[in-house]
Amino acid sequence: KRKVLVLTGGGDCPGLNAVIRGIVKRAKTEKNWEVLGSVEAFNGVLKDPMEVIELNDKITAGIHVKGGTILKTTNKGNPFDFPIQEKDGSWSTIDRSGELVERIKSIGVDAVISIGGDGSQRISQKLYEQGLNIIGVPKTIDNDLSGTDFTFGFRTAVQIATDSFDKLVTTAESHHRVMIMEVMGRGAGWIALHTALAGGAEVCLIPEIPYDINKIVERLNQRYDQGKGFAHIVIAEGARPKKGKVTAVKSDEVGYEHKRLGGVAYQLSEQLKAAGCEADIRETVLGHTQRGGTPIAFDRILATLFGVKAFELVLEGEYGKMVSYKNNKITAVSIEEAIRKYNIVNKNSFMVKAARSIGISFGD
Ligand code: F6P
Repeated sequence: KRKVLVLTGGGDCPGLNAVIRGIVKRAKTEKNWEVLGSVEAFNGVLKDPMEVIELNDKITAGIHVKGGTILKTTNKGNPFDFPIQEKDGSWSTIDRSGELVERIKSIGVDAVISIGGDGSQRISQKLYEQGLNIIGVPKTIDNDLSGTDFTFGFRTAVQIATDSFDKLVTTAESHHRVMIMEVMGRGAGWIALHTALAGGAEVCLIPEIPYDINKIVERLNQRYDQGKGFAHIVIAEGARPKKGKVTAVKSDEVGYEHKRLGGVAYQLSEQLKAAGCEADIRETVLGHTQRGGTPIAFDRILATLFGVKAFELVLEGEYGKMVSYKNNKITAVSIEEAIRKYNIVNKNSFMVKAARSIGISFGD
């Protein structure tokens, strides 16, 4: 039998299980294929003994409805920068990529399907260049991967954030408060922008458009002057002011121009008060709730189609490709192209202009 090895890498994301199930179901229609799974990204292969499991109908039955990943995941599994603990207890990293490729071949694997975000896709490209037959499946709630119009998980995250936004509306209204809601997205403002539009925020702060605190106060005052005694701000975790610095509550290098700044909602609150905002302000940081729970129908479908397509690319021997959703079609692009740049919000796009036209301020 021929073997395909599946793994999930990086942060989890609603829809991962639906991809795995799609691969297994599609592979079953080909008589001579077996599907294996490496537990916790590539770490399963690098462990002694290896933690590689058989993925079959029984294990994957009904999993498309569940969030998370049955294969587990980690962002500490880069084979090129593999963490090892020295005798004195300190940590360093070594390159185990050559060994990884050997180990994968040693168990008779013909092809690998790696489901992951930009970090995982970068690893896939390097492994492909080392001669591994690999296919990528794009995953992230942030929607910041180029080469695909949407990643699965993104719309679920937006739905979760919108549901929370709606809940904040009734309490804001009752107390005449300004509610600041912080959403994820790393260096991209997609989740924030979509949530601001869906929920009906007055202010939307995204990394792509640095804000001026005085402009936000202006917009809030305008709202209060209209007699509407409450307001909503959606802020992306990577948003930052034009002047001055945001001191990160938690800072975590994410590999490109922005740092992860969990807690920016609290900092914005202080900045607003310092800039003369007199309203009563409350902050909500949604955090990992945005990645949890059941994927919405769209993401289950997209993830399933990605799984089927990934296996078909294996059948066609189209290695070095990443599955993609473009112009309403499931297609494939080279991984190299997908990692060339990040997909961030274009401030001149129709979506941003439309948002402005209906009264959403970006604080610029
Ligand atoms: O990339 C997905 C994401 O949830 C980002 O939005 C966020 O910045 C990051 O992962 C959080 O990572 P961790 O799971 O390491 O806290």
